[in-house]
Amino acid sequence: MTTAGNAKDRVLIFDTTLRDGEQCPGATMTFEEKLEVADVLDAMGVDIIEAGFPIASDGDFEAVSEIARRIKRATVAGLARAISIDIARAGEAVRHAVKPRIHTFVSTSPIHLAHQMRKTEDEVIEIITKTVTQARNLVEDVEWSAMDATRTPIDYLCRAVETAIKAGATTINLPDTVGYATPDEYRDMFRQIRERVPNADKAIFSVHCHNDLGLAVANSLAGIEGGARQVECTINGIGERAGNAALEEVVMALRVRGDVLPYDTGIDATMLTRASKAVATACSFPVQYNKAIVGRNAFAHESGIHQDGMLKHQQTYEIMTPASVGVTKTSLVMGKHSGRAAFRSKLKDMGYDLGDNQLEDAFTRFKALADRKKHVYDEDIEALVDENIASAHDRVKLVSLTVIAGTRGPQRATMKLDVDGRIVTEEAEGNGPVDAVFNAIKAVVPHEAVLELYQVHAVTEGTDAQAEVSVRLASEGGAAVTGRGADPDTLVSSAKAYLSALNKLIARGVRVHPQAAE
Ligand code: KIV
Ligand code: ZN
Repeated sequence: MTTAGNAKDRVLIFDTTLRDGEQCPGATMTFEEKLEVADVLDAMGVDIIEAGFPIASDGDFEAVSEIARRIKRATVAGLARAISIDIARAGEAVRHAVKPRIHTFVSTSPIHLAHQMRKTEDEVIEIITKTVTQARNLVEDVEWSAMDATRTPIDYLCRAVETAIKAGATTINLPDTVGYATPDEYRDMFRQIRERVPNADKAIFSVHCHNDLGLAVANSLAGIEGGARQVECTINGIGERAGNAALEEVVMALRVRGDVLPYDTGIDATMLTRASKAVATACSFPVQYNKAIVGRNAFAHESGIHQDGMLKHQQTYEIMTPASVGVTKTSLVMGKHSGRAAFRSKLKDMGYDLGDNQLEDAFTRFKALADRKKHVYDEDIEALVDENIASAHDRVKLVSLTVIAGTRGPQRATMKLDVDGRIVTEEAEGNGPVDAVFNAIKAVVPHEAVLELYQVHAVTEGTDAQAEVSVRLASEGGAAVTGRGADPDTLVSSAKAYLSALNKLIARGVRVHPQAAE
């Protein structure tokens, strides 16, 4: 395959989430989960699905057989060591596939030959001929892998590759099994092999990179530049040790940087997020927040400068659209780094239309909250804006509150209130901290209203969640009002809720004495 005119070379995507991915500690999937993942991979346009290692267990064999039966578009591959019974079992497992493949491998590096296999180079060459021939007698499509290729002397690697192609291998995979190569080395290895192996043009070359040095995707792209036209990768980059090259990263690198990497895949990138979620759920393996393409922060912006840029033009801080990978929308995460512009836009999205003064007030309160709270959710903003709107005409406002609470009572509240613009300080004890807070308010604003309800609930999750308190006060005449207050501190929310109810009573003309402290 060569580049003709402007046409891009096609790179095959070989997904090994269900084999190498499942080999990673803690990522085991059930039979049903494997079928679900295979369906998503097929729908997304993966060219080859490596469904498992049939000799490994009866469960693996069953899963590979069932995937082979149900997948109608993609090739289904089963892995086999260079052992006759492995190859027979893999052949048996994939035989019902529309497009079956046997993927067999053997180590070629000196360290593996000497310590793991205890075989000579010549013995391994014989094994390659024997096992690839056996596989080729079972299926047309045979992939052969030189395990630990990147630590194999190039002359011997050329000999092994030539042998495998002669025996009938149609795909040659040269894995960086231990994630040791650098991009230049890996690119060069493919160039040399393709130049020096006489029958190299009879096979498609494949990259398979592990991420031990964090270079799996960079190496895969370099291997493509070296002439490989198949990439072995996994969703979310799961796999042995530090994992494999992440499918979503390879696909999007080729798409976004088509200017310097003129290669195409058949992947429907808008399904990447869905596939990532399906795999994360199936193997209970969470995706790191800052994971490229599919992490929850991949399209989230918090810093004020970035949010400001994003509101003016999306491409200021995004190199691909969230929609292109199946994410509905960029999210402007509200936090202490957010600026006014982002806050205004957030409020607009939430349906609020505040005047300049109200907005400024709400923004000040939002900043104060963001300084105290790690995550500021929409619900938090809603609570603070609602409270802000409601309290705009209040005659009695909370300025500050200190409470001494704990096992050694009495509990004591020291409170500063703004009463019609005048600051009043009061101290009171109570049967518990909430009672002390309410007594302090009563001391400043004497009234006969009765507390009918006191309720607390968390606005969002986590121990730093805002507590929303509701307080219902009934006046002597029977009128009842409910006030709400929200704050990460439950006692502050309680004070705000009580004052909110009291202010409503005052507004209704119920007899209370806001100036009593005078
Ligand atoms: O990493 C590796 O070398 C492998 C082979 C089995 C292809 O996973
Ligand atoms: Zn591997």
